[in-house]
Amino acid sequence: MAQKIKKSSTSVKTNPKATPLKALLRVRVSNGDAHYGGNLVSGSKVLEYFGDVATELLIRLDGDEGLFCAYDNVEFLAPVYGGDYLEIEGEITAVGNTSRKMVFTAKKVIEPQPKVAPSAAQVLKTPIIVVKASGTCVVPKGLQRNSK
Ligand SMILES: CC(C)(COP(=O)(O)OP(=O)(O)OC[C@H]1O[C@@H](n2cnc3c(N)ncnc32)[C@H](O)[C@@H]1OP(=O)(O)O)[C@@H](O)C(=O)NCCC(=O)NCCS
Repeated sequence: MAQKIKKSSTSVKTNPKATPLKALLRVRVSNGDAHYGGNLVSGSKVLEYFGDVATELLIRLDGDEGLFCAYDNVEFLAPVYGGDYLEIEGEITAVGNTSRKMVFTAKKVIEPQPKVAPSAAQVLKTPIIVVKASGTCVVPKGLQRNSK
């Protein structure tokens, strides 16, 4: 059974030195990533960013990239367009034998203003949560280098 981790806890049994259990990625979504009409970006692009954040969390905890096993929830809450700046945050919430449960949030912090000018953009006063998700990654026992 997975061991629950308190938020901001530094006492993870599998790796007492593992801090932080959060990771943050900031990216500018390129216009080249737009896939649908109106410069809309595919939701799978944000899942790719979650995968990168998950990988960093696993490297910090286990010294290994691990594998994404399953999402148990994904919510697309607002559209992402080419030119948006996103902050993608992930946190390990529970550590099992080989499983690591995680939660993810992607927030839009800057968006283009194409109606003002092709190069216009604005910093959002309040970031917009665009995608939320939770899932499980696996690091096989023999690859958990930090637990020895
Ligand atoms: C992920 C993978 C390694 C798991 O294989 P496995 O180790 O044989 O799986 P197991 O059934 O032994 O389960 C391993 C752990 O994951 C957990 N798990 C398995 N399926 C799960 C699911 N659907 N949801 C949540 N947890 C799950 C198990 O409970 C177990 O946890 P524990 O070790 O903490 O007790 C394997 O399915 C795989 O290689 N998948 C492809 C991964 C991939 O390519 N991802 C995309 C790129 S990263």
